[in-house]
Order: sequence, then C-alpha cells, then structure tokens
Amino acid sequence: MAKARFSRVGFILAAAGAAVGLGNIWKFPYITGLYGGGAFVFVYLITVMLIGFSILAAEMFIGYKGGKDAVTSFELVAPEGKKSWKFAGFMFISGMIIMTFYSVVIGWIFHYIYLSASGGLPTSMDEAKTTFDTLVGLSPLTATLWHLLATVFVAAVLMGGIKAGIEKANLILMPMLMAILLGLLIYAMNFDGFGKALAFMFEPDWSKLNSEAIVRAVGHAFFTLSIGLGTMITYAASMSHKQSVFKAAFWVTMLDTLIALIAGVMLYSFIFQFHAEPGQGPGLVFKTLPVILTQLGTTGTVLAAIFFIALAFAGLTSAISLTEPAVEYFIQRFHWSRPKAVIVNTTLYFIIGISAILSYTKTYGAAFSIGGTPLFDAFEFSTDSILLPLGGLLIAIFVGYVLPEHTREEMRKHHRVPLRFYKIWRFSLRYIAPAAIIFMMLNNFGIIKI
Ligand code: PFF
Repeated sequence: MAKARFSRVGFILAAAGAAVGLGNIWKFPYITGLYGGGAFVFVYLITVMLIGFSILAAEMFIGYKGGKDAVTSFELVAPEGKKSWKFAGFMFISGMIIMTFYSVVIGWIFHYIYLSASGGLPTSMDEAKTTFDTLVGLSPLTATLWHLLATVFVAAVLMGGIKAGIEKANLILMPMLMAILLGLLIYAMNFDGFGKALAFMFEPDWSKLNSEAIVRAVGHAFFTLSIGLGTMITYAASMSHKQSVFKAAFWVTMLDTLIALIAGVMLYSFIFQFHAEPGQGPGLVFKTLPVILTQLGTTGTVLAAIFFIALAFAGLTSAISLTEPAVEYFIQRFHWSRPKAVIVNTTLYFIIGISAILSYTKTYGAAFSIGGTPLFDAFEFSTDSILLPLGGLLIAIFVGYVLPEHTREEMRKHHRVPLRFYKIWRFSLRYIAPAAIIFMMLNNFGIIKI
C-alpha cells in the first residue's frame, strides 16, 4: 500500500498547526509583558528568523529524506559509519514529557470555555484568582476530567492517521483559529488601547533588555516553532516529494510568528483599553482577560468563549503533533497497529499528567514534587530549557556537519534554495545556532551569567 502523504496545503497547515499553540497565544503575550515589550519582541523575531527557521528547515530535511519515524529517519539519513546518530531520534520522548502538562493546560482552557458558556466567568480580580486557584489547586478531579477530554480528542484524531486524522483536523481547525484571531484583532482595532498595544509591542525600550530576557527569547523560539523533538521530522516524512522543505519551513515560520504577533497585539489592546497591568505572567489570559471581558456584558462573554475556543484549537493541533512522533516510532520499529500505538501512548501521558495535576494541589503537592519543585514545573523546565535546545543542537550539528556535502546540491535542486540562502542557512546551523543554544543552556544552569 502506498504511503499516505499530506497534500501541499495540508502539510503547511499541519506543520503550522504543530507550531502554533499555547506558546503563541498564551505564553508569548505574557512573557512579552514580563520582559518589557518591544525589545523582547525584537530579540524573539531575530532568533526565530535566524536560528529557529534554520533548525526547522534542517529538521524537515531529515524527515523528507528519511521518510520514517524520527529514529529510523536519522539512521537512514546518516552516512555509513555514523549510524549511531539514530539515538538522536529519541528526542521524540520530549514530546511525551511536554504532553504531560500541555494536555492539562488544554483541560484548563476547556474549563474556561465551559465557564464562558455557563455564565461563570469571574468579574473581579479577587474572584478571578479564586476561580483559577480552585481549578488548579483544589479541584484535581475537575482538572483530570478536562485533561481526559483533551486526551480523548488527541487520540481520536491520531487514530485517523496522516490523511483522515492529522491533515483533516488541521484543515478544519487552523483556518477557524486564524479567522477567530483576525476577527478579535479587528474588533480590538477600534480601541484607543490598540495604538498603545502597537507601541508596547514594537517600540523597543532597550533598557528593559537583560540577559534573562534574551535567554527566554531564544528558548521560546524553539518551543514556539516545535523544533528539537522530532515532530517536524515525523510530519515531513509524509510530505509530498514535490514540495520544498525550505519553502515549507518559511511559511510555517511566517504563520507562527504572525499568529503570535496578532495574539499579542489583540490581547494588549484589551489590556491597555481597560487599564490592566501588562506584566501579569501566566495568569494573563486566565485571570486578567476574563475580568476585562465580563465588563463588556454579553458581548464580552461571547468574545471570551470565542477566544478560549481558538486557544483550545491551537493547543489541540499542537498536542496532536507532540504525540504523533511516539506513535509513529512504535508503528515503524515495533510494527504495532496504529490504534495500539495511539492508545498506549496517550494513556501513558494521561496517567503521568495526573501527577502533574496533583503536584499543583495543596493536599498532594509535596508528594508530587522533586526537591520542592512541583512535577508540573519540572516537566516544563526539563523540556523547554534542556531537552528541546539539546534536540535543536543535535539537529544543527547533524545537518551542519555530519551530512555530506551533497546536501548542497539536493537543497538547490529539490528544494529550490538559491546558493546565497543555502550559505546563510549552513552558516547558521554550523555556528550561530550551536553558539546560541550552548550559551542559553549554560545560562540556564547558572554556569555563565551576563
Ligand atoms: N509549538 C507549540 C506551542 O507554541 O504551543 C508547542 C509545541 C508543540 C512544542 C509541538 C513542541 C512540539 F513538538
């Protein structure tokens, strides 16, 4: 049976669906707020274009050439004598670790959709705090049920495989997500706060830029583009061989960046219009936004419901992509059936996810912590700050140094990359990306501090 492949648009949307996620709509706006706006956005944009894009194209290149799960693709693509590079393919495990908390956050979003529909959104900051803290700290059962719903959705889509599952879900959810965000942006353009939001996001105040902000911007560039854990290898393994990985990576980077910027400008228009505080941290969309929107009466409640639905779509398409690499690994290497691979993997992260939920509760928090750090945070830190950059480093070294010179011809012929761009890409993979990643990791471990 011929291998099922994405259509061209299907691949771009699936890869953009992987990239565009909670990182764009929830995390990017709040870290921009925490690190002072424009200067942070500037560093983020530079990093995404220079490092993120290069690694994304490299990762897709491995998948395109290998045509299999991440481990097998590395093995097939590696030159003779260097086949142990296959172990780099185990970077897909990071996706499973991310899913243990990512699915929980999607569950929180489901809860907020339910609150919007049932008229239960908080109307004051005190109430917003209680609502959120109760969900996260006191109601593990509620959080677990929503986490279960997210897991069932992901499993149902993955059961359909590349065409009927992943491509179809993205062809439906991604255009809807973009339409909702654009609609909300157009709505927010009427506010005085819109101008302030643009100034906040795009007028850099360099005095606010510190080393921590730079490190966060580099880390976020990896997370937001979904690179460093084999997702893009696995998806690109099923892309059309007539498609250029370079162009696909370009479109995915553009869409991902554009959506983050739209989400940021839209949210900050609301924040400034209603004189709320920009540097709120993770509570920005779960606490501040509902309080602002409920001031607008029924319109606000409808806007909140629409916003949380868009956020859920973004999260679900990424969740699908975080799980597929593991599923594909078991199908290819152990010849499991797709249903078996899907059920085993989703059950696994569902169960471990419960420990992440419990680690945030008052009653069980201490039992589900490592050295005082809740498991939820430990899963997040270990992936975001260690495993994804490490995965990115391996990809950069593999494509930049290990793959033989004919990469150049292939990139020019199959992928229609002009020589100039090829040279910049290769330079970035060989020098800029490894240097930035090593700097970031040393900084994370406190070995160097600037
Ligand atoms: N890029 C996703 C986001 O911004 O939320 C998160 C993510 C998805 C990371 C898939 C890694 C991945 F493979």
